[in-house]
Amino acid sequence: MDPFDVKGRTAVVTGAARGIGKAVADLFAARGCTVARLDVEAGESILTCDVADEPAVEAAFKKLGRIDILVNNAGIAVRKNALEISREDWDRVMAVNVSGTFLCSRIAARSMKQHGGGAIVNLASIMGFSGGLFPNPAYQASKGAVVNLTRALALEFAPFGIRVNAVAPTFVRTPLTTPIFSNPELLDKVMQHTPLGVLPEVEDIAAAVLFLAGPAARCITGVTLPVDSGYLAR
Ligand SMILES: NC(=O)c1ccc[n+]([C@@H]2O[C@H](COP(=O)([O-])OP(=O)(O)OC[C@H]3O[C@@H](n4cnc5c(N)ncnc54)[C@H](O)[C@@H]3O)[C@@H](O)[C@H]2O)c1
Repeated sequence: MDPFDVKGRTAVVTGAARGIGKAVADLFAARGCTVARLDVEAGESILTCDVADEPAVEAAFKKLGRIDILVNNAGIAVRKNALEISREDWDRVMAVNVSGTFLCSRIAARSMKQHGGGAIVNLASIMGFSGGLFPNPAYQASKGAVVNLTRALALEFAPFGIRVNAVAPTFVRTPLTTPIFSNPELLDKVMQHTPLGVLPEVEDIAAAVLFLAGPAARCITGVTLPVDSGYLAR
């Protein structure tokens, strides 16, 4: 048996228009999985949906049939410190990163429960375990919430054969991290906290998601797997 087999399965990937979500959707599709790509931005093969908008999420999922795998990847950051961030920005980060993950998970779980099980993989972050290198409190709080929501849903959904896990990447070059990767001083600071001396690419994150979504991880639930080049080992 191929431990990474997702052939013939149906997956939903949120935030799939670019970055990590696109890499996940492309990897799953290349391995014979039928993939529904959700994103707030319109695009080719994209089902438009704001994951923070419950009626929109319900309408999008209604268009889909059976769901075996959900990847809660949609996420945003507003990199402002606690003294400066507006209440509106704080709420939007929480709405997309935490409530979006919650809303998509419970809608998908209703479908998975009917079909005897499934797998949910959330995109957390090393910022869910650490205060970070740069002030980003809304994002750090939201990703900490994703780590513990992963545990809570894993326990609630286990009786239905639904596994819930997460991946916690370190800094990965995508549009989300352009402000860091385009600033040599900030990037240098990141590399000082990168024991392996190399940062993951989007494909490395997609591979970890595939591992957690597939049969190789059939006895793994409630965990958040860092893909962090050693950042959290210190
Ligand atoms: N890039 C990194 O360094 C890094 C590190 C740790 C965790 N992550 C997490 O990985 C995930 C993907 O990050 P990325 O770097 O690819 O980001 P990105 O900004 O490149 O892509 C995010 C995608 O999500 C979509 N999106 C945003 N809000 C949405 C919403 N409300 N509804 C639906 N789609 C929405 C965007 O349109 C975009 O296509 C996020 O959850 C992020 O927090 C990224």
